[in-house]
Amino acid sequence: MSKRYTITSALPYANGPIHIGHLAGVYIPADIYARYLRRKGEDVLFVGGSDEHGIPVTIRAKKESTTAQAIVDRYHEQIKSTFEELGITFDIYDRTSSKHHHKNAADFFMNLYEKGIFEEAVTEQYYDEEAGEFLADRYIIGECPNCGNPDAYGDQCEVCGTTLSPSELINPRSALSGNKPVLRKTKNWSLPLDQYEDFLRAWAVEEHKGDWKSNVLGQVKSWLDDGLKPRAMTRDLDWGVQVPLDDAAGKVLYVWFDAPIGYISATQKWAEENGKDWKPYWQDESTELIHFIGKDNIVFHCVIFPVMLKAHGDYILPTNVPANEFLNLENDKISTSRNHAVWAHEYVEDFPGKQDVLRFVLTANMPETKDNNFTWKDFQTKNNSELVGILGNFFNRVMVLTDKYYEGKVPEASATFEELKDLHQFPKRIGVYLEKFEFRNALAEFMNLARLGNQFLQAQEPWKKIKTEPEKVPAIMNAAAQIVALLAQTAEPFLPNAADKMLSILGLEKSNWNDLITADRYIHAGHQINKSELLFEKIEDEAIENQLNKLKETKLKNKMTNPNAKPEKEECTFDDFQKIDMRVGTILEAKKVEKADKLLELKVDTGIDVRTIVSGIAESFSPEEVIGKKCTVLVNLAPRKIRGVESQGMLLFTDKPDGKLTFVNPEDEVENGSQIV
Ligand code: 2FM
Ligand code: ZN
Repeated sequence: MSKRYTITSALPYANGPIHIGHLAGVYIPADIYARYLRRKGEDVLFVGGSDEHGIPVTIRAKKESTTAQAIVDRYHEQIKSTFEELGITFDIYDRTSSKHHHKNAADFFMNLYEKGIFEEAVTEQYYDEEAGEFLADRYIIGECPNCGNPDAYGDQCEVCGTTLSPSELINPRSALSGNKPVLRKTKNWSLPLDQYEDFLRAWAVEEHKGDWKSNVLGQVKSWLDDGLKPRAMTRDLDWGVQVPLDDAAGKVLYVWFDAPIGYISATQKWAEENGKDWKPYWQDESTELIHFIGKDNIVFHCVIFPVMLKAHGDYILPTNVPANEFLNLENDKISTSRNHAVWAHEYVEDFPGKQDVLRFVLTANMPETKDNNFTWKDFQTKNNSELVGILGNFFNRVMVLTDKYYEGKVPEASATFEELKDLHQFPKRIGVYLEKFEFRNALAEFMNLARLGNQFLQAQEPWKKIKTEPEKVPAIMNAAAQIVALLAQTAEPFLPNAADKMLSILGLEKSNWNDLITADRYIHAGHQINKSELLFEKIEDEAIENQLNKLKETKLKNKMTNPNAKPEKEECTFDDFQKIDMRVGTILEAKKVEKADKLLELKVDTGIDVRTIVSGIAESFSPEEVIGKKCTVLVNLAPRKIRGVESQGMLLFTDKPDGKLTFVNPEDEVENGSQIV
């Protein structure tokens, strides 16, 4: 009898691409787990999708002067296809802006509403009078009471990491208009988390203290020890699932209320599309519900969502929430705003065909119990020494020798080897680790099998024995083929592409994982092996340097004070530039040009001569202000008549942020007539 598993992975916000931190924290462990369970023949539903509501989406839309829908359409597609490229085997990748999710989330809300679960609370919220909007916490900026950062957000200070509420900010201002927001009364519906403390303690802390990760239990305990408060499940916003009540115009469900319901909506859609019943996956007590998330999502999946499920009453609760910590990049926090990240879609472009390498390195460095670090050097080493040097090398040697000595036919096993008698322990141990969510240990065990293979060949030296004791070689090569076949059978969760390649070269079908534990052979004598090819290739220094340079360039770009300036003119040649004659001058006289508000008529000492120049600067300067000013003059501009006055050149200015002009001058004192080159 197969066991039913509902595996969810945090729905990423569709407001930007995903990076290696997301992959190592959530999607790779979830995919390894799902693939492993499928190979055991379990009934697995692996759910993913885009979280398309929430303030990050509307902030991005505002920044790009577009709609929230346009933003989520773009990133949903991009993220979905990146996941496909990386072999993340979701059974469905849904989205929360869909009609069916809106209906499902609204129904869930109404179910709790009709049970009288919510508390109606009239609270004072910050409101931007100029924008005519209530301000979400992210839209309120002010000084952090903890570290003094002048630009902390109403929900968090990104400098010191403190969780904040808008009322704690010193001198709050609206991110929309920059104005001081005012407090206005508004009604919202809250989930009384405080009433569920006993339930949470009994369920999360007591029932699961033996099987949940300590980082997860620790966070839940600390929330409970601090005491839970009712939390608003609706917001005064226009982007999201509308609150399905008559007196709730202009209000939507809190994104953390609707997003986890997205897992259920996705299941319903999947069931509908595949002729299945969705209910057992969420309502049958024998189903294992596993949420893969990052540590910033623990409270939502271990406190708020379970309370929602419990309050509803028809649903099972998660069996486990194997949250990971964070991954750093080159010893620095991954940061979307600083663009300090390895973006998954860029990796796929920069390293075509090397998806397995990223999966391998991220699994080996998975931040399971504490934050961990990714470096490009380590990425190269792990590829070159482990994938190429150990796994690829062993596989290739066995294939080449079998081809050479036995025309690709697995020879008879005339002897057994003590050191290989427990091969079946490998799939068993890998499975035990995976079931405990110890992905690094599971991968290490898989690599130990490859290591064992290499050591075995090295010790047996069939390439020497073929000359001295050829009768011993068939047994050696048969044993080596067993290891290669077992590697091919167990590689899939970690290295799905390499696993396919190995199985296809070996001409083997995928076996059920349980059979691997009971089998005493993984490939039969006489089995014909296909033509081999290399599994992995070396990654050269140049590719690594390119990536490091990319990160360095980003750091420099972060130092730019105005990164929004864009080129506006066509390229010019050096010869074009050489034609220009610019000199330092001084304005001797200035007067307004009659009936022209913007123009001043100037007499300028250019060092070469004193000439008349008409300049459009009257809105920035009065004539008195510019007399005696040093200036830069384009002296060989062809004269032209402006308002009846012949202008014999042009002065150089630039804009200040307030829109007024300012002179472009050398920093030091220089003589009139000095050339600008
Ligand atoms: O932290 C995040 O990226 C959220 N979008 C995760 C949501 S998980 C679930 F509840 F949908
Ligand atoms: Zn701070």
